[in-house]
Amino acid sequence: MNNVLVIGSGGREHALSWRLKQSPSVAKVFCSPGNGGIAQDVECVALATHDDIVEFCKKENIALVVIGAEQPLVDGLVDKLEAANIPAFGPRANAAKLEGSKGFMKDICKKYNIPTAAYGFFSDAQSAKEFVAGRACPIVIKADGLAAGKGVVIAQDKVEAETAIDEMFSGKIAGGERVVIEEFLEGEEVSFFALTDGTNAIEFGYAQDHKRVGDGDKGPNTGGMGTYAPPPVMTDALRAQTMKEIILPTVAAMAKEGAPFSGVLFAGLMLSKTGPKLLEYNVRFGDPETQSLMMRFDGDLYPVLLACAAGGLDKVNISFRKEAAMCVVMATKGYPGDYAKGSEIRGLEKADALPNVKVFHAGTKREGDKIVAVGGRVLGVTALGETIAEAQKNAYKAVDAIDWPEGFCRRDIGWRAIK
Ligand code: AMP
Ligand code: GLY
Repeated sequence: MNNVLVIGSGGREHALSWRLKQSPSVAKVFCSPGNGGIAQDVECVALATHDDIVEFCKKENIALVVIGAEQPLVDGLVDKLEAANIPAFGPRANAAKLEGSKGFMKDICKKYNIPTAAYGFFSDAQSAKEFVAGRACPIVIKADGLAAGKGVVIAQDKVEAETAIDEMFSGKIAGGERVVIEEFLEGEEVSFFALTDGTNAIEFGYAQDHKRVGDGDKGPNTGGMGTYAPPPVMTDALRAQTMKEIILPTVAAMAKEGAPFSGVLFAGLMLSKTGPKLLEYNVRFGDPETQSLMMRFDGDLYPVLLACAAGGLDKVNISFRKEAAMCVVMATKGYPGDYAKGSEIRGLEKADALPNVKVFHAGTKREGDKIVAVGGRVLGVTALGETIAEAQKNAYKAVDAIDWPEGFCRRDIGWRAIK
């Protein structure tokens, strides 16, 4: 029996902790720092630094560390754990660059013929502007580095493009010391997940996210307002094509470059008229995609994640339930702009008690016997159903059982599949 430590505090980490806790090969799950809802399922601990994490792992005999978000991966937490002989799920820093530098990712795609938007990669504003001058609009301007979801501007005309370039190089947008400029692609987006141990790669589900804050995909971008899985737009043929043309060549490329990738490759795909194209790689699970994925995952998660770290992924079994899953994100009013903290959320037990429902917590905190909202995205109300329409009905029934006047959610998650 094994102890596991999950690193993070979002709905994604709640879903992973919850599934790992159900694993027959896991004795105890810890989560650092966790949140008010995660603490109801597993033990939360506060570990401030990477050194603290290593110390804790030794003390608690941790057999696997599962890292939720990209920043610790880019900062080399896996390298540090490996040096202490502690298995960790996620890539080393040199492979986490696939998310940490968009230019690095694009250069890999170009070198190994992986389908992605045509692009240029620039380290000064003048050359970036010259590139834009010769191209059609809309055109996409991206900060090279991590920008917490704020590093992509879709410029409708050249003036907007030049403004975005200036803002990135002046440091007004994080991660913009260098800039990728790319062709605007049209189509439907899909979040596609593949696990890899550096040599083998296997599919691990796919979902569709709703990034805009408002119904009908209106309003500003967010971290994600809801997901459903599996989206019917992703046919078996497209899945096979994605593995063959994007995932497997990437795994081989990274090994060849001397930076083997292990963990999860989260490919943001654009299903263009000419086939799936890679918009971006994330080197960690999606949030809120993971909530839908983990709801459907069927089986023992621990050996699967361990095999990514230790090798032997070709020998593990993966299965998902045939039902569809949907996650509706409830956020504090005002999000993704300014919002107040500290409002009480009631009715959570009632929602969680509904059949085929699990409420994952993101920005919550326990205060006495109350659960209060302390973040933008606060809950991921997740449900299963025979069809996507049924999963949607079940998810919104749970949403409606939650009494939280200061919160809101979209009412149309899954519309593309249900219309
Ligand atoms: P990224 O962080 O690269 O996924 O970009 C965030 C969002 O910007 C994506 O989910 C897309 O909706 C959009 N986007 C990024 N690149 C492109 C592109 N080349 N063409 C059209 N939309 C894009
Ligand atoms: N839901 C998109 C992401 O996790 O980046």
